[in-house]
Amino acid sequence: MGTTIFFDEYGDSSVLKVRDEETPSPNSGEVRVSYRAIAVNPADWKIVAGYARDFLPLQFPAVPGNESAGVVTAVADDVSGFAVGDEVIRVGLGGSYRAEATVPASELFPKPADVDFEQAAALPVAAGSAFAGLERIAVEPGETLLVHGGAGGVGIAVTQIAVHRGAKVISTASARNHEFVRGLGATPVEYGPGLVGAVTALGGVDAVFDAHGGADCVAATQALLPDLTRATTAAADEHSAAAGIAHVGAAMDQIGRIVAALAELAGQGVLRFPVQERIPLAEAARAFDLSRAGHVRGKLVLVP
Ligand SMILES: NC(=O)c1ccc[n+]([C@@H]2O[C@H](COP(=O)([O-])OP(=O)(O)OC[C@H]3O[C@@H](n4cnc5c(N)ncnc54)[C@H](OP(=O)(O)O)[C@@H]3O)[C@@H](O)[C@H]2O)c1
Repeated sequence: MGTTIFFDEYGDSSVLKVRDEETPSPNSGEVRVSYRAIAVNPADWKIVAGYARDFLPLQFPAVPGNESAGVVTAVADDVSGFAVGDEVIRVGLGGSYRAEATVPASELFPKPADVDFEQAAALPVAAGSAFAGLERIAVEPGETLLVHGGAGGVGIAVTQIAVHRGAKVISTASARNHEFVRGLGATPVEYGPGLVGAVTALGGVDAVFDAHGGADCVAATQALLPDLTRATTAAADEHSAAAGIAHVGAAMDQIGRIVAALAELAGQGVLRFPVQERIPLAEAARAFDLSRAGHVRGKLVLVP
């Protein structure tokens, strides 16, 4: 029994509703998990707004959220590899904005004991796309990487992993986030009209990770990087498609390998998300509004 956030029509945060729900016992292949933390991503409000309705039509009522972490409370007889009390990370399309959920065992991955629940919940989506995108553009030690949107969830993970691997990172952020970005090991530059000149003055770049998207970021990438096979985007749109910039391309069949690698990096202290705010699950609508405004520093975490 616990709080569930659901919606039964597409729209903004006002369509989110709160109810108390019984959690079913696990059927064949399923595990019940009591969530301790649920990470918020821009994808959550985009899916609720209907941006993905053409290729990902929802059945209503639907529950938002693609990642969470918690403790196993029941396991179906035919499931092996999980036991009551195990700490797990859940990754799946929708369904995470719940205090407790019954999910297919295939959506669960072990949570390392030395990574807390809110850090674990935030790993798969933002850090997963960072990890997959960095594999795609293969940044070498000593190379310089430009990150568009270095203060957000994806940009922070890109910066932390790339710096750990010996790359030099230049990150775009608004002026209020320059000290923050510098603390991650990156050289901050302001996005906007002066960006290309500022990055050129710093010596240019070998690769670009676009963690923001849109016409201006794509134009700057094109101006700075002759070889666009060294560019990738987490925010694919018509501009990146027209320029031929590839999406990070995190395939769901790779998610187990990627979550395991991220959990190791988090355990080593390489990957650590600053949490901008912990918000009660019942106030998920406020988290949507904050995310949608586009200036979250680090992660928003919902707490059941
Ligand atoms: N697998 C995937 O494909 C995947 C996974 C995760 C995310 N995404 C997508 O990637 C994008 C970023 O996600 P996120 O989780 O990092 O978002 P987020 O945490 O909400 O980050 C937003 C960041 O964008 C920065 N920003 C705002 N306007 C900007 C501009 N004009 N130029 C550069 N940066 C700007 C903000 O910094 P300031 O406050 O300093 O402006 C803020 O830190 C979203 O579109 C999301 O949907 C895709």
